[in-house]
Amino acid sequence: SLTVDTAAAGTKVSRNLYGVFYEDINHAADGGLYAELVQNRSFEFDSSDEPSYTGLTAWSKVERDGAGTITVTGDRPLNANNRNHLRVDITASGTGVGVRNSGFNTGIALQARKKYDLSFFARRTSGGPVNVTAESADGSTTYGRASFDVRSGEWKKYTATITASGTTDAARLVVLAGGSGQVDLDMISLFPRDTFKGRENGMRKDLAEMTAALKPRFLRFPGGCVTNVGTYDPYSDKQDRRRIYQWKETIGPVEERPTNFNFWGYNQSYGIGYYEYFQFAEDLGAEALPVLSVGVNGCGQNRPLTDETKLARWVQDTLDLIEFANGDVKTTWGAKRAALGHPKPFGLEYIGLGNEEVFPEFFANYPRFADAVRAKYPDIKIISNSGTTSQGAWFDRMWDFAREQKADLVDEHYYNSPSWFLANNRRYDSYDRDGPKVFVGEYASQGNTLYNALAEASYLTGIERNSDVVELASYAPLMANVDYVDWTPDLIWFDNDQAYGSPSYYVQRLFGRNVGDRVLPSAFKGAPLPVDDIKGAIGLGTWNTKVRYDDVRVTDASGNVLFSDDFSAGADRWTPGAAGAWSVRDGGYEQSAIVEDARSTAGSADWSGYTLEVTARKTEGAE
Ligand code: AHR
Repeated sequence: SLTVDTAAAGTKVSRNLYGVFYEDINHAADGGLYAELVQNRSFEFDSSDEPSYTGLTAWSKVERDGAGTITVTGDRPLNANNRNHLRVDITASGTGVGVRNSGFNTGIALQARKKYDLSFFARRTSGGPVNVTAESADGSTTYGRASFDVRSGEWKKYTATITASGTTDAARLVVLAGGSGQVDLDMISLFPRDTFKGRENGMRKDLAEMTAALKPRFLRFPGGCVTNVGTYDPYSDKQDRRRIYQWKETIGPVEERPTNFNFWGYNQSYGIGYYEYFQFAEDLGAEALPVLSVGVNGCGQNRPLTDETKLARWVQDTLDLIEFANGDVKTTWGAKRAALGHPKPFGLEYIGLGNEEVFPEFFANYPRFADAVRAKYPDIKIISNSGTTSQGAWFDRMWDFAREQKADLVDEHYYNSPSWFLANNRRYDSYDRDGPKVFVGEYASQGNTLYNALAEASYLTGIERNSDVVELASYAPLMANVDYVDWTPDLIWFDNDQAYGSPSYYVQRLFGRNVGDRVLPSAFKGAPLPVDDIKGAIGLGTWNTKVRYDDVRVTDASGNVLFSDDFSAGADRWTPGAAGAWSVRDGGYEQSAIVEDARSTAGSADWSGYTLEVTARKTEGAE
């Protein structure tokens, strides 16, 4: 029986409880949410970042009834932030010499009858044609074409609209220069007109719609480790391409945004920049929640920013970001926002200061940022962070510091086993109600199975019950391209034309779309589900388990004990011989354990992929 105290005031559920954390990891931006179809459109990929990269990554040479050479050069670039471009030297005039782009995954995805905006910058020594086709990999099918007469000796932008004549996920974009002489090309772009909410330079519709279906109340961005690992030098000074995410480099015309080799080991175009993030949050009906480094790297690396001048610039950039989001059009940065098309302030309420910046320098740097923000923008809620774990000495230290600093919230991150999530449902019951609130900014149970999703769902009941202290929560990471995976598990998986949600996605959607106003106290009375029933539910007929307060036993159908463990030792494992190859991993947390079939790991099990997790509880009479 379930008793609900309907007379009680209950716990008010935070209005922003469920949100999303979007990071450019797993190609979540280029080749993902960012709708651009051309990979390496600005020829900036560089072997000094990644040995397999060249300026021609994703491009290959095409000669059609003509001959010539192609190179990537920095000679008289498009602008100071866009250093390289393609140079075609035509040696034998014909239909054309140029390049073919292979897009992402299997190629460029096109849908019949949809419109695509084609654009590029070009200049040439003698006037002549540039012909562009969207075609199949073998060139036998043409999906669309556009021709241009390029006469200018100076950089000039050329545009056209292509309507696709067919549907494919494997097209190529071929750009050919005819005539003679030298032709320079840069920022070759093919962009679907049909983006989320029809935004120019916008988001891929299916991925954005799946995000919107979660009904997120906030959008944390741009990371994660992508925010805060690398040097603090601006692009103009850069020696090291892996630079910290610098928001000012990500706004304005896309051809003026420098690319960056990001923490996750690939080139990032910044096509989705801070303006697009704010716009996307608004389109989702979510609060924008940017996270900035406070000059302490984190994510396992520490190259703290101690140079006073650079630190002061960094603090100023943080203040300028708030002005960019919220400032009146008469302010410097408010005016820039207005010029980009959004005179109305975005209404920023939260700012994250630091992502997993668990190094001593954090204690020196954080106050400089927090004090400056507090002084100028007292209404902005400041989020400190607690690092990469759910507990431990650093975790406690970071929390103590956040309390001293009177942070509004503390960003907790943890990726744990499903058993941890089941065992920790009461984690926030005992949190201090008077201190900073909690932002569970990154969490996931390790795996993408239904069982992981159920463990997370169970855990979310604890979060919701405590949403007077847990103000915000977001699963992480949000997106992964199936062919460029840096991190699992993830919520939304996709290739270049399809997307699906993991089981965890549907848990997030269920909770996000069904947020109550109050959680009323309730009590459940009843017998725990017999373990044999669990066995039945998972379809194992040859053995059964018995769970007590602090032990787990696996017995076969005749009652022979195949395994028992009281969790007194740490890494308990059991490998019987002929009887099977069961092993038990101690979940390391109170009375929980994972029982798994080692044969499935070896690939020879009947019960392939099977994992049984037993959480033993001190439940009266439970056996
Ligand atoms: O979500 C993936 C990564 O996990 C994030 O970039 C980082 O903050 C955390 O360690």
